[in-house]
Amino acid sequence: VKMRKKIVAGNWKMNMNLQDGIALAKELNETLKAEKPNCGVVICTPFIHLASIAQFLDQDIIGLGAENCADKEKGAFTGEVSAEMVKSTGAQYVILGHSERREYYKETPEILKEKVLLAQKNDLKVIFCIGESLEEREAGKQNEVVKAELEGSVFNLSEEDFRKIVIAYEPIWAIGTGKTATAEQAEEIHAYIRSIIAEKYGQAVADDTTILYGGSCKASNAPELFAKPDIDGGLIGGASLKAADFKGIIDAFK
Ligand code: G3P
Repeated sequence: VKMRKKIVAGNWKMNMNLQDGIALAKELNETLKAEKPNCGVVICTPFIHLASIAQFLDQDIIGLGAENCADKEKGAFTGEVSAEMVKSTGAQYVILGHSERREYYKETPEILKEKVLLAQKNDLKVIFCIGESLEEREAGKQNEVVKAELEGSVFNLSEEDFRKIVIAYEPIWAIGTGKTATAEQAEEIHAYIRSIIAEKYGQAVADDTTILYGGSCKASNAPELFAKPDIDGGLIGGASLKAADFKGIIDAFK
């Protein structure tokens, strides 16, 4: 039996205005209040939604998180949003290290290391994303890549702090492409990720670490993915934008 925490988390990305975001969060909240999920559920939204959604979300049923935070504590950083500001909205989570942030906003392992430290300093639970590109997978380098990403930004943490992290494995070639990693492919690398966590922090920590799969995960493939021993849920993009689609994935844990 897998004892560690199972989570289905949504990553809305840059998709909804405030009104649409509030409507979706309300619908999800009502749906999951009526029928309690068998896993942790989190929605990660654009910064502008956080304070409004925090007002009505039952966070014992649905956790709320941001999709990013600044790598600086405070001050003259126009346009940035700090971990402390995220926390002050009532949010509890933050996604860090998403491949879109790494690629389009040039977030380096060093920057991400700072973000993780600041997020934890402000009691935000970090969902830390790792994953290889198509080119890297074709060259057989996926294990190397995920290991370097962990070493670069989170393996500096104490055991106590590492235990607060949720890992999300997202192969870049499967994000928004409709191409899911097969459940076997995903399980293989999840098991590898768990093994390097065990090497670094010991088997007990590795056994307790929640490792999510992300990349074209939907209601139709979630049951097969989540049934694998080392896959503890999903980080969901496109299919988190409609309550019924997201609920369909959550139901994979029934
Ligand atoms: O963070 C989740 C994400 O990158 C996966 O996106 O749209 O392929 O589910 P999608």
